[in-house]
Amino acid sequence: MSEYDFNNFDDFDSGLATAEPDEIEAPESIESAAVGTEVLVVDTDSAVRDYLTGLIPQGASAVEYLTDAELRLANGSFVVLLGPSCSNPESLDRIEGWAQSYPRSESILVTPELTTQLLHKALRVGVKDVVSAPIDQDQLLDTIERIIEGIPPETPSTSSGGSDPLSGDPDMMGRVISVFSTKGGSGKSVTATNLAVALAKRTDEPVVLVDGHLQFGDVAVMLKLFADSSVADAISQLDVLDREMLRDLMTEHADSGLMVLPAPTEPTFADQVSGEQMAQLIEVLRRTSAYVIIDLPAIFNDVVLNTIESSDDIILVAGLDIPNIKNVKIGLSTLSLLNVPKERLHLLLNRADSKVKLDVSEVERSLGVDTVAHVPSDVVVPISVNRGSPVVLSAPRSSVARAFEQLATRFIDNKAPGAANQQQGRRKFFG
Ligand SMILES: Nc1ncnc2c1ncn2[C@@H]1O[C@H](COP(=O)(O)OP(=O)(O)OP(=O)(O)O)[C@@H](O)[C@H]1O
Ligand SMILES: [Mg+2]
Repeated sequence: MSEYDFNNFDDFDSGLATAEPDEIEAPESIESAAVGTEVLVVDTDSAVRDYLTGLIPQGASAVEYLTDAELRLANGSFVVLLGPSCSNPESLDRIEGWAQSYPRSESILVTPELTTQLLHKALRVGVKDVVSAPIDQDQLLDTIERIIEGIPPETPSTSSGGSDPLSGDPDMMGRVISVFSTKGGSGKSVTATNLAVALAKRTDEPVVLVDGHLQFGDVAVMLKLFADSSVADAISQLDVLDREMLRDLMTEHADSGLMVLPAPTEPTFADQVSGEQMAQLIEVLRRTSAYVIIDLPAIFNDVVLNTIESSDDIILVAGLDIPNIKNVKIGLSTLSLLNVPKERLHLLLNRADSKVKLDVSEVERSLGVDTVAHVPSDVVVPISVNRGSPVVLSAPRSSVARAFEQLATRFIDNKAPGAANQQQGRRKFFG
């Protein structure tokens, strides 16, 4: 995501008047455009089209309407610059189908005014990035280059829509539980690893932990795993992924039998994963596992939004201090804006001790979300993190371990609300 200057909503037209492309110093070129991906500008205003195409040194083609763009997308690979005339719900709704129909094209929305609502809408429909005026040309070219690098090479299977490699398992409908928070360092990864290990220990059914913190995930470190493959590898083979391939891509946590799909080792690989692809991967995992736990970063991007939308349950981790509670409130209002049903949201209060001066029941009431666990603060947690052995294994009698075991029990007994899926017909695939 580009950085936005929220204090500088210059009128887009005046931006046009003051920043003629040829006045701008020679920018870095888009090296990878040579690979075959072109830039396509869409806007009904010819001045805007000229301005945006002028920002692309290698040249870009331009069309007036989305329908014209779709004709082009059907026969090539494009980064589409959606001009301000596309910043409306009808146009964005139309773009929603693009990821499916044109997998070798991506879009960037250029808008004179960026609102939170527009940003959410754009990310939800699969727009890769949103750029607001005044446009930083170098930054725009960097963004285009980054997006081009993530576009998959043309393969016959990309457009074939062939047979479904997992269609033999109509009964398998695993429960997808994502662990999220709007505050970094609140205990998401500690929760995800302990819950996943507790579930894996207690069930014969396959349990998978996915590190959805694609840039800086630390699930593998927390479980002391040395993995050969990552989420990015699974995503790159989505079209042909079957059970055996998944089995090979995952790393088994020997002490619990948990199957782990860690984050890529290179943070830049994160850019290669789109929200749509993540949602597809989750559907594959759901049909091969009983529980899919996903550890998320504390940001709203399209991977996170798609993961949350694909989840049966979302555990919101919050610390018991005012900044944490404030952030949870913001997160909850964003999730409600995105129409995530409230019954899927479960609050986990981390470091919830009597020593903390906040009244837990008061906090729960003010947030209005059902609480599934209170995890106390305990030195066993950092010790376990440093050892690479979750508390439920390394300190099973601690109150922290008991809290995570109880949380796992809620899911196994199907007591936690939000279990919209069928629980029957599961069997073990991995291990
Ligand atoms: N209940 C707890 N008691 C003591 N320490 C804790 C507890 N929960 C988490 N911590 C400490 O907080 C640190 C951060 O936890 P964790 O990595 O799970 O947070 P996170 O929300 O995943 O962070 P990020 O947003 O960076 O992904 C851990 O290294 C751990 O030592
Ligand atoms: Mg984390």
